[in-house]
This record gives sequence, C-alpha cells and structure tokens, in this order.
Amino acid sequence: MARIAIVGPGAIGGSLAAWLHQTGRHEVVLCGRRPLSGLQVETEAGTVALPTAVLTRPAEAPAVDWIVVATKTYDAAGAAAWFPALGATGAPVAIVQNGVEHRARFAPYVAADRLVPVIADLPAERVDPQRIRQRGPGLLTVTDDAHGRMFADLFTGTAITVTLTDDFTSAAWRKLCLNAAGVISALLLQPAGVMRDAALGDVARDLVREGIAVGRAEGAVLADELVEDVIVSYRRAPPDAVNSLHADRAAGRPTEIDARNGAIVRFGARHGLPTPVNRMAVALLAALSAR
Ligand SMILES: NC(=O)c1ccc[n+]([C@@H]2O[C@H](COP(=O)([O-])OP(=O)(O)OC[C@H]3O[C@@H](n4cnc5c(N)ncnc54)[C@H](OP(=O)(O)O)[C@@H]3O)[C@@H](O)[C@H]2O)c1
Repeated sequence: MARIAIVGPGAIGGSLAAWLHQTGRHEVVLCGRRPLSGLQVETEAGTVALPTAVLTRPAEAPAVDWIVVATKTYDAAGAAAWFPALGATGAPVAIVQNGVEHRARFAPYVAADRLVPVIADLPAERVDPQRIRQRGPGLLTVTDDAHGRMFADLFTGTAITVTLTDDFTSAAWRKLCLNAAGVISALLLQPAGVMRDAALGDVARDLVREGIAVGRAEGAVLADELVEDVIVSYRRAPPDAVNSLHADRAAGRPTEIDARNGAIVRFGARHGLPTPVNRMAVALLAALSAR
C-alpha cells in the first residue's frame, strides 16, 4: 500500500490516478487548483470513479510515499508549492511532463536524487474539469534505476505499461522530435490531417531534422529514420486528432511551446547549432497567441 499524491489531476494526472486507484493497493491523494468532489475517468476498460475530493491548499496536504507531478510544464512553480507538505518524509517526485528538461525545471525545488523524470505516451483529454477521457493505451518511460523500478511497480496490475530504459535522454529527445512537428497544427489551427499536405510535410521534416541535430549534440542517439517515422505517425493519426499545443492555443490557454520547439532553439544555441525553422515556429506562435 502506497500513498500517492497526484499534483495536477488533469488529463494525464487523472488517468494515472484512476489506474492507481483501481488497483485497490494505493491511497490516491488528488492535489489541484479547483475544489472538485472527485473525478470520472473513462478508460478503455470502462469508467473509473474516484470519489476523492481534490485538495487545493498545499499546507493541508498529508505526507505521502510518492509525489507524481502532472501539471503543464509552465506550472512547475505552482506544483512545487505542494512539495514541502507532501514530501515531508522525503518522497520521490515523479515528473510526468513533455520536454527534455524534467530535472532542470524542478531542480530549484527538489534534491536531484528525489527526482524521477517520466515520459508519457498516453492520449488523454479533459472533457470537463471533473471528467477525463483516456483515448488509447498508456505507456510511461522511466530510467532503469532504483526509483524507476519502484515507480514501475506502482502500476503493476494496471493497463499502464511502464518501460525502463538505460537511455532516458534518447527517449526524451525522440518524443520531443515527434512533438516538434505538432507546432504546424498549432500555427494553422488545423488537426493532424494537415500533415498529409506535401509542403507542410517538408516543413515538419525540417522541424524534426533540427531536433535530431540538437538532440545528438545533447548526447541522444537518434536515427536518421526518425524523420520519416514522425511524418508517418502524423499521417497515420486520425485526421481530426488535435495535439495539445493546438488545443491550448485554440482555447486561449498558455502553451508548452517553450518546453517543446523552444527547447530545441535554446539547446541549439548552446551548441552553436542553427534552428531557423523551430525559431520561426516559436516566434510565430508567440505572435499569434498574443493577438
Ligand atoms: N494529455 C495528453 O494526451 C498528454 C500526453 C503526453 C504528455 N502530456 C504532458 O503531460 C503534462 C500534463 O498534461 P495534461 O494534458 O494532463 O494537462 P491538463 O489536462 O491541463 O492538466 C494539468 C492539471 O494541472 C493542474 N494544475 C495547474 N497548476 C496546478 C497547481 N499549482 N497545483 C495543482 N494542480 C495544478 C491543472 O488545474 P486546472 O484545472 O486549474 O487547469 C490541471 O488539472 C504536460 O506536460 C503534457 O504535455 C500530455
């Protein structure tokens, strides 16, 4: 029995909470910004109800065995406000977010040996604040070390697959390269089907090629074939699929552009690598979002 806090009970946090809850082995503590009486999570295996009230005051949170952060990347400081109470006994902190800067983002708040970066391949969306829909199978990737294996054990008996890797850097950059192409949909406010256009496909290839070059400079092992793999995966996706960058811009919310294409630009600059296509995408999205 572990007591697990989910900080950020949104699409990803809610889905993970539902699966952890239904094992019957864990006590799930939901930590959010809105006072909800519980969550309904529609998973492939049916709907899981979490009759657990969402806590909204960090000072009132109990100490837990695990902290799982699933806020958006730009909400790191708010998420960290929960750490003193939840982590009073030194709980490890799993960061389930996009990008490649899980550790750097939370370094100001938690000792490095408590941080557990997690990559999520788990399509989920919030239908309303209390209702979450998980649209496909869930895969999490963590480093194959003591904390990674403990984290994986939490999900035993769930439909969430946790993969252990000895090369987290490569896995994270691979996901970032995939996400990099998604900015095209966010700029055009058009779902994944737009990637079937030949000219836009070429722009996507350039976005990914820059990501690969920068990722390699960061030590990631990335095959040249990743470029076509990314194109194929967007073109095979349902044409009406909306990625989160697109959804956030369409809804007028902040976006994770800085953690995605912005990271390619920033890391590229550190290595003296030009990233003109990602740079333009970041600038265009900022300008459009400010209108
Ligand atoms: N959704 C996907 O399919 C998917 C797939 C792979 C990776 N990811 C990544 O997973 C991460 C989470 O994404 P998501 O889609 O789950 O986002 P989301 O649905 O917006 O959920 C984020 C949650 O964090 C809450 N939150 C924000 N600040 C908080 C704070 N200070 N304390 C407690 N809770 C706080 C939000 O509260 P409010 O209710 O107030 O907004 C919301 O419930 C992102 O990095 C995303 O890129 C998402």
